[in-house]
This record gives sequence, structure tokens and C-alpha cells, in this order.
Amino acid sequence: MNLTRRNLVLGALATPLALSPTSSRAVEASLRSAANNRKLLYGAAVTEDALGIDPQYTNLLATEAGILVAEGVMKRKTLEPRKNQYDFTKAERIWRFAQRNGQIMRGHTLVWHEANPFWLKDALAGKPSDKIITEYISKVAGHFRGRLHSWDVVNEAIEPDEGNDQGYRVSSPWYEAFGPDYIEIAFHAARNADPDTLLFYNELNLEGDVWWAEKRRSATLKMLETLLKKNVPIDGLGIQSHLKAYRVRYDDGVFSAFLKEVSDMGLRILLTEFDIADIDGPDDPVQRDADVASLARRYLDVAFSNPNVQGCLTWGITDKYSWLSRYDNYMWPDGRLSRVLPFSEDMRTKPMHDAMLAAYQGS
Ligand code: G3I
Repeated sequence: MNLTRRNLVLGALATPLALSPTSSRAVEASLRSAANNRKLLYGAAVTEDALGIDPQYTNLLATEAGILVAEGVMKRKTLEPRKNQYDFTKAERIWRFAQRNGQIMRGHTLVWHEANPFWLKDALAGKPSDKIITEYISKVAGHFRGRLHSWDVVNEAIEPDEGNDQGYRVSSPWYEAFGPDYIEIAFHAARNADPDTLLFYNELNLEGDVWWAEKRRSATLKMLETLLKKNVPIDGLGIQSHLKAYRVRYDDGVFSAFLKEVSDMGLRILLTEFDIADIDGPDDPVQRDADVASLARRYLDVAFSNPNVQGCLTWGITDKYSWLSRYDNYMWPDGRLSRVLPFSEDMRTKPMHDAMLAAYQGS
């Protein structure tokens, strides 16, 4: 290969020039290198069952992602399958993959109302000690101490539909056992276990120009303000970014104003689980791809214009493995794959990829 200055520069970004799967031409830039150039992050959730099994997928993930997050294996159900018995095998396998490919990693998630081991329900019965939170976080965040970019310490604590005055998810086993205090308990435990890793609060459905998303944004901001006033060590807000191109209206101004409210609090912002559901879209996949790409570009242009936004991780990288093709609310009744991520099921770039690349390049 003729190593022009451009190739050398790209090479220096520790990102091999990948041959685009759509043609023999070298990809001008991977999402990873384009993000690097703008001092932003691009990465993806790892489909653990395909890693190392599906070579095309494995190579794509190694080439395109600069930061990785485990889609499932760093949740409590996997890490502590039995009380006080920890298993980091699957998580360390991803860590080693990231190390081999010069990638960083973030943790998802320490405290969530889902993906908990079967024994937890009994352990939370009665008046449990907060050690059920602090000892787990001390063990897990301690295990990864100094090795992660960030943690989603608490995930999805807000659910205004449940009628709580502050909009908390009161059906959470953590809320039932400890009230809202579980959140600050978790963050203090995480800071004690790993002083240098960024600690994020992660939330879904904050993005839309609809009344219920506004309620979620308001409750989330109020909760963050309360916690920060109490000096709870929160470094950032994770905005999951599961958009729905044909179901939930999106408005640049509404989203931009929300990002500013968050950054005005001094918090970092990360788009943590970006994908764009195409359910209820037109039958023609070309049109759906175009609509998804257009929304992706608008959304990222707004996000990347806020100086506190650190970057974006997509929730998966190829349509072949997206959760949206398995999840009742979003899967197509006729069984076709949802077209929601930057790469197609055969690992080729899609219009969404091109839109994301252009957003990272600021072109
Ligand atoms: O691996 C087992 C497999 O062996 C078994 O045969 C199969 C049958 O039940 O289950 C498989 O585990 C599933 C796992 O995904 C791997 O596919 C679990 O049942 C299933 O509950 C799990 O769902 C994940 C879900 O979080 C719950 O952990 C989804 O893949 C994952 O995309 C989803 O991600 C969440 C984020 O963590 C938080 N934000 C929302 C996002 C989407 O729901």
C-alpha cells in the first residue's frame, strides 16, 4: 500500500484502514478514526455470543469501534450467578479482545431492576442491609479498578408512569428495599471502589419531542440536581438514545435544550445505546434506510455540538444481531430484520453509517 501522509495519519490512530465491505476501495475513515479525529468516542455494545464465532462480525467490531461495552455479561445475573460467587470469565474475554485491538471499555451496569440473579429477590426481602449493594459494587468495580473508561452505576431509576411524585421507578426491587437512597449508596460505593473511572447515571426515553419524554427529562434533571447538591459523585449522564423513527417525534431544539441543561450542571454526556427502530416504517427498505440515516445525522449533529458530549456507542454494530429484531415491541411481525444500526446483516455500510461518519467528520 502506498503509505501517503493521509494513510500514515490514519495508521497513527491505531486504526487499520479497513476495506469497505461494500467495495474493494479502502474506507476513507472508520467510525473509530473519524471519532478520534474529533476527540470523540465511537463504539458499540458487544454481541457476546457472536464474538470470535462470527469472523466478519468480529473483524468489523475490531476495526470500527474505539470503545466497547458488554450488551449483557457485565450485569449482575452473569457476574454474581450465586450469592457471593462471582464469575468474570465472559467479561474478561471482552476486556482481552479490547486490549488486543487497542480499544477501551465501559461497564454496564452495576445496579438495574433487570438482569439480576434469581437469588436476589429473597436477599432483598425484609429490611436488607445496604451491603447487598455496596459489597457487590466493591467487588465488581474493584475487580475492574483502573481498567474502564466509565461505569453505568445506576440504570433506569426513573419511571414517571408509576405515579411517584419525583418520577422514580418505584417497582424497582432496589427502590422497594431502600427507597431512592439506593442511588447515592451505589455511586458512593463505586467511587470508593474505583476513584478514577467516570461514573454515569444511564437513562432511556429522554430524547423525544413528546409529553412523556419531557416528564422523564424533568424527573431525571431534578434527581441529578438533588444528588449533585448532596455531593454524590456522579460524573455524567448516559442518554441511551433508542430512537424510533416512525413512532416518537424528535425535535433538534428540544434535544439541544435538554443537553444544555445537563451540561450546565457540569455533567459529561454520553450517548450510550444508540439505535433507530424502523418499525411502522414504509415497506421499502431503501426508504427506511434513508429516513433512519436522516434522523441519525440530525441527532448526532445536535449532540456533537454540545461540548460536554463525549461521543456515542451504538447498541450493537450490525443489524444481524440487534435486540430490536428480538424484542416484541419493535420486531417486524413478518420476521424481517430491523434495519437500525450502521452496518447491514452482511456487514456492509448502510446510509446510517454514512450519516454517522459525516456527523463525526463534521462535514
Ligand atoms: O444467552 C441466553 C441464551 O442462552 C438463552 O437460550 C436465551 C433464552 O432465554 O436467553 C439468552 O439470554 C438473553 C440475553 O439477552 C442474550 O441474548 C436474555 O434472556 C435476555 O433477557 C437478554 O436481553 C438483554 C436485555 O438488555 C436484558 O439484559 C438484551 O440482549 C439487551 O439488548 C438489553 O439491553 C438493554 C440495556 O441493558 C439497558 N437499556 C435497554 C437495553 C434494551 O433493552
